[in-house]
Amino acid sequence: MLKGSYPLERFAQLPTPFYYYDTALLQQTLDTVCAQVADRPTWQVHYAIKANHNPQILRQIAVAGLGADCVSGGEVQAALDAGFVPEGIVFAGVGKADWEMRLGLEAGIGRFNVESTAELQVLSELATSMGKTALVSIRVNPDIGAHTLAGITTGLAENKFGIYHGQVEDVIREALSLPSIRYCGLHFHIGSQILDMADFAALCNRINDLCARLERRRLPVGDLNVGGGLGIEYGHPNHLPLADFKSYFNTFKQLLPPKYPVHFELGRSIVASCGTLISRVLYVKEGLARKFAILDAGMNDLVRPAMYHATHRIENLSSDGPEVPYDVVGPICESSDVFGKGVVLNECHRGDFIAIRSAGAYGESMASNYNCRPFAPSIFSDF
Ligand code: LLP
Repeated sequence: MLKGSYPLERFAQLPTPFYYYDTALLQQTLDTVCAQVADRPTWQVHYAIKANHNPQILRQIAVAGLGADCVSGGEVQAALDAGFVPEGIVFAGVGKADWEMRLGLEAGIGRFNVESTAELQVLSELATSMGKTALVSIRVNPDIGAHTLAGITTGLAENKFGIYHGQVEDVIREALSLPSIRYCGLHFHIGSQILDMADFAALCNRINDLCARLERRRLPVGDLNVGGGLGIEYGHPNHLPLADFKSYFNTFKQLLPPKYPVHFELGRSIVASCGTLISRVLYVKEGLARKFAILDAGMNDLVRPAMYHATHRIENLSSDGPEVPYDVVGPICESSDVFGKGVVLNECHRGDFIAIRSAGAYGESMASNYNCRPFAPSIFSDF
């Protein structure tokens, strides 16, 4: 969204901070994703709810026909409430509690992505006691290091996630032998904010090796869930508002054999760009060598910079004044409550609207009320 296109007159009526969602951009993103997989009838894209569970966003994504990728009972319930069809819901997570499994079984969700033999056994017992069958994929740890932030890689061997790829055969045999479990496929996920398609190509190669090995041993493969992870251009939200869906899906089209149905679990690439955290400048403080722009939004509203040293583009929507570098900080009593250091902004004054861009993914969904601060509300462009 270009700086001049934010509705500042409307914003002037509202207390800050708040999340502002561009529903037209979300729709354009969804249309692009659907168009990319339209030629593959057995492919299904599930939206990773962890990226943003705002009910209005979920409804728009459900209407577009995507499935939902959930990691908790709360997310399964949010998906059902938003109108996602149960068969399109996949449920992952290393530590599913009994009530969460029961909820999924009761609703008849499309898949449990199982991460350990212990979990498989409990799921079998619960399903048997309920007279249900659990549809299961085995989450395989592909041992591939994606080139991304250290805090958000998941596919390396020493991670807690999934089953090491060398041990998968035993777990598939176990799944095939247990009552009330129907083995349906394999699940992978290598990390998040991945911009190098070579990482996804490496995943495809690993998958192909594994499938060939399973077939040699006469074990079923079923379908493939390749997880999520496609990144966005945080530095260029205006020039590149859409993730490179074409290169992403083409990588899988070129490298995976068409005989396997493929599931995707995209979160960030679907919702990041459509969200902006809007705040006001409370104070401009002259330091010794630097100036601080102190915002009324803090790390409780958007934790990514404090937690992962992630950078988001920051703009002063109210000023076209000379460009000045600021340390842009929040009001929280933590020195890590910094959105960016030395950020060049049009000169800031008290009351200016500051936009923190590309905050639609892992912004609102990771917010807290630390320091007894209320959760920032959300408003939508199509009010
Ligand atoms: N599938 C699985 C199994 C996952 O663990 C994740 C994300 C996704 C799909 C969706 O990945 P995406 O398409 O959004 O990259 N809070 C961090 C990101 C954590 C990602 C966790 N897993 C951040 O703010 O960057």
